[in-house]
Parts: sequence; C-alpha cells; structure tokens
Amino acid sequence: MSLISAALKRINPSQTIAISNKARELKAAGRDVIALAAGEPDFETPDNIKEAAIKAIHDGQTRYTAVDGIPELKAAIVAKFKRENGLTYKPSQVTVGTGGKQVLFNALVATLDAGDEVIIPAPYWVSYPDIVQFAGGTPVPVETRLEDNFKLQPEALEAAITPKTKWLIFNSPSNPTGSAYNRTEMKALTDVLVKHPHVWVLTDDMYEHLVYDDFEFVTPAQVEPALYDRTLTMNGVSKAYCMTGWRIGYAAGPEALIKAIGTLQSQSTSNPNSIAQWAAVEALNGPQDFIAANNKVFKERRDLVVSMLNQTNGLTCPKPEGAFYVYPSCAGLIGKTAPSGKVIDTDEAFASELLEAEGVAVVHGSAFGLGPAFRISYATATKDLEEACLRIQRFCGSLR
Ligand SMILES: Cc1ncc(COP(=O)(O)O)c(C=O)c1O
Repeated sequence: MSLISAALKRINPSQTIAISNKARELKAAGRDVIALAAGEPDFETPDNIKEAAIKAIHDGQTRYTAVDGIPELKAAIVAKFKRENGLTYKPSQVTVGTGGKQVLFNALVATLDAGDEVIIPAPYWVSYPDIVQFAGGTPVPVETRLEDNFKLQPEALEAAITPKTKWLIFNSPSNPTGSAYNRTEMKALTDVLVKHPHVWVLTDDMYEHLVYDDFEFVTPAQVEPALYDRTLTMNGVSKAYCMTGWRIGYAAGPEALIKAIGTLQSQSTSNPNSIAQWAAVEALNGPQDFIAANNKVFKERRDLVVSMLNQTNGLTCPKPEGAFYVYPSCAGLIGKTAPSGKVIDTDEAFASELLEAEGVAVVHGSAFGLGPAFRISYATATKDLEEACLRIQRFCGSLR
C-alpha cells in the first residue's frame, strides 16, 4: 500500500517556489545571483498597517475568531467591493482565508467532482491546474497567443466550453504575463459566458491595483451583472498592500458557495490569523496613496525591462498593462548552443543555462503552460533589474 494518496500524486510542488529556492541556495553558496523569480513586491508593508497589527496584539486580539473572518474585516471588504468595483455584497457573501491561495483552493475543492472541467487560459498561475487536479477535476488549458498579448479570445473560450465545464478561472492582471483585460475585451468574454448558464466564473483579481498608464481595472460581475449569481470574485491584500507574508485573502459570491468554503475551512485551518485580519482591516480602510507611489516605480521598471529585452537578440517582449511581470518569448533562441556547449532546446534549458552562466534566475514559460518563453518579476531594485537585463543581453548574444 502506498503512503502517498492518489490525490497528492496528481499534483507537483510549485515550480516558481522551487526556482526561488535554487537561487537562494546559489546565493548562500557565494554566487552573485539576481533573482527575478519571486512573485512578491520588494516594498515594505506600510507602517500604518504594521501599527494596526501591533495594536491588535496589545488589545488582546489573540484568540480564535469566526472561521471565515471577523465582522470588521468583512465590513471593510463589503465597502471595498462597493467603492472600487461597484459590487454590492452582504457580509454573509464574504469569506476570508489564509491568503488568496487558500480561498481558491477551498473554492475548487468544495465544488469539483470527478470529471468536472475547469477552463484555464494559458499561460496561467502555476497553482490553478494543480489545485483542480487535487480536487479531482480536469484542467482544460486554453492557449493564448503573443499576438493577442496573451489574452483569451471569445472564440477560444466558446470552443472550450462543454457540458462538463464547471468553472472558468480568470486572472487579470495576469500572473505570469501582466496582461489585463479592458472593459471591451472583458465584455466580449462575458457575452460568451452569458450564453452558458452552467459555467461558473472564478475571477482572481489579486493584481487589481497594480495597473499602469491610466488603465481602468474591471472585474467580470461588474461588467456583466447577469454573471453576479455565478461568480466568485477573489482578491487579497498580498500584492497591492505588500503583505505577502501576512496571509490574508478573501472572496465574495453567492451565499451557498461562501458557506461551503467556510465549512471546508472549519475542518482544516479554522480562522485566518487574528492579528493579520486586523492589519487587513487597516489596509482596506486606511490611506491608499502609497499604492500610486509604488506603481510609479513599478511602471518605470516595466518600461525599462520591456525596452531592454526588446533590444535583445532573439527575444520579443509585449508591454503588459499590469502586475509586476513580463513574459518575453525566447522562440528565436531555441535550437542555439551556449558557450558551455549546452543546446538550448527548451525554455527550461534557457532558464537553467541563464542561471548557470550569468546568475540570473527567471522562471521558464513551460511551468506556466505556454512556451517557449520565460517570466521576469520586476519587483526587484531597479539597479539590479538593469544589471540583470544587461546579463540577459550578454547571454542571448553568446548563443550560436
Ligand atoms: C495570480 C495569483 N493568484 C493568487 C495568488 C496567491 O496570493 P496569496 O499570497 O494571497 O495566497 C498569487 C500569488 O502569487 C497570484 O500570483
């Protein structure tokens, strides 16, 4: 009898975490490594949020809370959805979990049965297919194209829907491409979904606030109110509020689904950390102006990286609307040979040789379900980014 369950055998460890770990090991061994693999802002959590957490400790907010979130945080989330997205929810339609990842995990595990299909536009955040598979569902990746800036096209969505489709997982701005859908692009997709009332929408709005050049963020239930009753709108404080380590994510949707997510959570982790919940109340209700200040820096870095990569032999890099990632194609370099003699036959070989030769850690596109490409996170000090891009230019120029 095998120790490991069939469910666990269906999933793999997160490849983005694996690469960050490898970069950390090389650094610890004395190598000069610039890691562009991590999915977190390099800015500190703002002081007012830290102070709220310290106050919560002193106030004795140190005990179990309601499983799916304290009333104060639910109220802040209800207000956020109203203020920023024009969406009306009751507190009973809101759930809070230990990071956006737990909310997604719970939603999928609580709803998928064997044979249920989940449409996932590729390239995708690495965890979606694995969570679907763990839950017993079938991921249905739908490839997007560089010419479309990696955005799902309505015809492709229509073609992927079957009677077994349970969810579409939607992520804008996207990890790994940074692409975000404007209102017109979003409406074209929601028009397709309106025709298929059995399909639910799980929208991962984690990067909502990280958009540049006056881009207006929209979310599916806002663009198409007819989808409100079958949409789970997921979000969190990790990225915009620089709170990745605090582990607070949330979602709003139909009460029956929110209740099911809470039931699962009540038998696994119980409430998210009480102190972090109070910090999240301050994040959502407190001053928001630091987001624009951070975004100014992110935008400058995006422009720098896109420009340097597009001046690099064999690379093509679209300019994305948001998040802190770019997703250059390295199709022009596949089949070439590195000075070490290694043939760059895949994007994984490209990333691994780049790390060996120049000490730059990026994540290969095949980890996200669409290659040959790679992901750069530009949530790194600007001078390191510039140096990393110079090294990438030198590496690509050395391939024959
Ligand atoms: C697209 C996307 N969704 C969800 C998450 C999970 O966020 P959290 O750290 O709140 O669990 C991430 C984190 O990398 C992400 O990139």
